[in-house]
This record gives sequence, C-alpha cells and structure tokens, in this order.
Amino acid sequence: MYLSRGGYEVAVLDGFQKRRWEAQIGVQPLAPIHPLQERVRIWKRETGKNIRVFVGDLAHERFTARVFEQWKPDAIIHYGEQPSAPFSMMGNEKAVETQVNNVAGNLNVLFAMKRSVPTAHLIKLGTMGEYGTPNIDIEEGWLDIEHKGRKDRVLMPKKPGSFYHLSKVHDSHNCEFVCRVWNLRITDLNQGVVYGIETDETQIHEELNTSFHYDEVFGTALNRFCVQAAAGLPITPYGSGGQKRGFLNIRDTIQCVELALSNPPLSGEFRVFNQFTEVFSIRELASTVAAAAKEIGVTAKVEHIINPRIEEEEHYYNPVLTHLPSLGLKPHKLSDTLVKSMLSYIKRHSDRIDPDTIAPRVKWEGYV
Ligand SMILES: NC(=O)c1ccc[n+]([C@@H]2O[C@H](COP(=O)([O-])OP(=O)(O)OC[C@H]3O[C@@H](n4cnc5c(N)ncnc54)[C@H](O)[C@@H]3O)[C@@H](O)[C@H]2O)c1
Repeated sequence: MYLSRGGYEVAVLDGFQKRRWEAQIGVQPLAPIHPLQERVRIWKRETGKNIRVFVGDLAHERFTARVFEQWKPDAIIHYGEQPSAPFSMMGNEKAVETQVNNVAGNLNVLFAMKRSVPTAHLIKLGTMGEYGTPNIDIEEGWLDIEHKGRKDRVLMPKKPGSFYHLSKVHDSHNCEFVCRVWNLRITDLNQGVVYGIETDETQIHEELNTSFHYDEVFGTALNRFCVQAAAGLPITPYGSGGQKRGFLNIRDTIQCVELALSNPPLSGEFRVFNQFTEVFSIRELASTVAAAAKEIGVTAKVEHIINPRIEEEEHYYNPVLTHLPSLGLKPHKLSDTLVKSMLSYIKRHSDRIDPDTIAPRVKWEGYV
C-alpha cells in the first residue's frame, strides 16, 4: 500500500497459506482480516490506485514462473513464507512443510527471475534469528576472516534456533549462490522482530488493518505481553528473560524496504542489511509493557514461566547496524508506540481476545 501510494505500480501475490495455517491450529488475528480482493477494492476506492492480485502458491514452480513472465517486475519484495518458529517446531510434518514452503518457494522465485527478469532486484525478507546469539559481534551478512595466514570474506556463520530460522539460512545461501553464478542482484534483509500495528496507509480505512497475532505460535513475545496486560493477565516471559533480540517498528520496515529498493545493489551482488532499530531483552520488554499498561490504568504482574524453547537465556548480543542508517533510516522508538498505538488498539478489540491460545504448548524437545 505504501509503495502503491508512492507511485509504484504494484502487484501482490499470496496463496493464503497463512489463513490455512491459522485454521489448522485454531487461532485468529485479534481483529478480523478481510479477503485480499476486498481490501484491494477498498484501496482503489480510497486512493484511486490499482493493486494487481495474483493468487497461488510460490512453491508451485509453474505458477511462479507464469506470474513473473506476465508481470515482469522490476523489483520483487519477497515476504511470502511461513514465519513462525514454534509452528516449525510442532513436529516432523510442520518442519517439512515450513522448509518446503520457504526454501522451494524462494528457489522458484530465483529461477523465475533468471528466466524472465534477470536484471530485477530481489528484496528478500530474512531474519536476525538466522545468526542466533553468537559470542562475537554479528556482522551484516559477511565476515572478513584470517585463517592460518590467509584472508577471505565469507558469509557470517549462522546458528539459528528453529527449523523456521534454518529455512531462512538455506534461503540466504541459495540467494548468495545465484548472485555468484547467475549475476542476479539481491538484498537480504535480516529483519528483527516487527512490532506495531498501524501505518499511514492502514489508517485510511479500518479494513486495511495489518494482522495482529498474540497466540503462542504466530504472536511475538511483545504482542503476547501487550495482550496479557490489556486482558488483566500476568505477563509471562519465557525463562529468565535475558534473551536479547533486535526490534523495529512496522513503519520502519517499510522505510527499510523503500531504502533498499531505491538503492539497488549491482548485478551479481548479494547484499545483506541487518534490519532493526533497538535491542531489548525479553525481561526489559515485559517491564516496559507493564509500565506502559500503568499509564492506561492497568496493573500488570510479570511472572516468569519455564522456557519451552532451547535457547541461551543470558548471552552476549551485539549486532552491527550500519547500512540502513547510512542510507537514511530514521527510526521510531518502541516507547512512542506502545501506549498510543498498540495498547489502545488491543483495548478496542479486547472482546476478541482468546486467553487460551497464549500459554506455550509447543516445546522444542517435545515433538518427534
Ligand atoms: N513479522 C516479523 O516480526 C518478522 C521478522 C523477521 C522476518 N520476517 C519475515 O517477513 C516475512 C513476512 O512476515 P509476516 O510476519 O508479515 O508474515 P505473514 O504470515 O503475515 O505474511 C506472509 C504472507 O505470505 C503468504 N505466503 C506464505 N507462503 C506462501 C507461498 N508459498 N505462496 C504464496 N504466498 C505465501 C501467507 O499467506 C501470508 O499472507 C516472512 O518471510 C517472515 O519470515 C517477519
């Protein structure tokens, strides 16, 4: 919507896999999401701008190839993957489904680019979770190393924490490979956890809202904490809460995509941007949400619970962030969004909160 409003000719491709996965596990976004075609009609009515819709599965090679041949995009922003770590850890079937959907879908995009639009720019959504929590600084994709007196530049080693994050690592390797051998141009956005609900475009009409999940599978820790506080439930960080992650506002994700789009890499270049604006530990998030809840008259307790994941709870975390700020990224702050936007949105929809979907059931070692 942001790019369409800004004068780009935009098509959107979706196979509604997310709606199927939500139905499979029995969860829903806090506010309903209307059918895509209806949203596109509202967009046209409100702004006069057309967005072309393609419905199908990226993992189907012929469908993806046909769309690229028909639409011939100058740039592709590839969001279309299974985005949940717990979903990918629900067992053999879901791990395979995640990796086939993500890795095969991305491969089909790469082949379709090579065939139909070899000079187009692919902006691929990766994640900061690909790196895990190494005991060294996290460089932006590449690492200069010296080993036994020789030097090279290699992809930053990855230590991801779920089959979902592994699918993103596999994507990154496939992307780097096709830049090297087919001369494609790709920006891999290693994105942190996105928060926030509203953008200037979603505010044009209520039915243009983004999907806000707060359940244990598709909701992020911050979303769960905000919903717990708004519903008068205890805020429940996993384990000691010392896990640190990079975060960014949804408005900043849009800025980052546009910065990448208007500053494309050269042909043959695999460019990696770390994409976050602030780092918080999970316990800092919990206390920040509790303090924000107080501002709207709600007292929220923080109760640490057993961590269902296998991850480091106290660790070094120092991701490098230089490329996007040097291109002009102007970050928003979590503290400016929490009360004004997130908690008040949740309060407005609080009759739809299903508290039974918040507690963690998916355990990293519990499924075979
Ligand atoms: N939300 C975050 O905090 C976050 C953080 C880092 C990275 N990312 C990445 O950003 C991207 C978007 O994340 P999101 O949270 O908006 O997820 P989302 O689930 O809301 O959006 C992904 C969309 O892609 C579609 N899709 C999935 N597989 C597809 C396929 N094979 N063919 C066609 N469409 C398909 C889904 O139906 C869904 O509408 C994902 O790649 C995710 O891994 C998200």
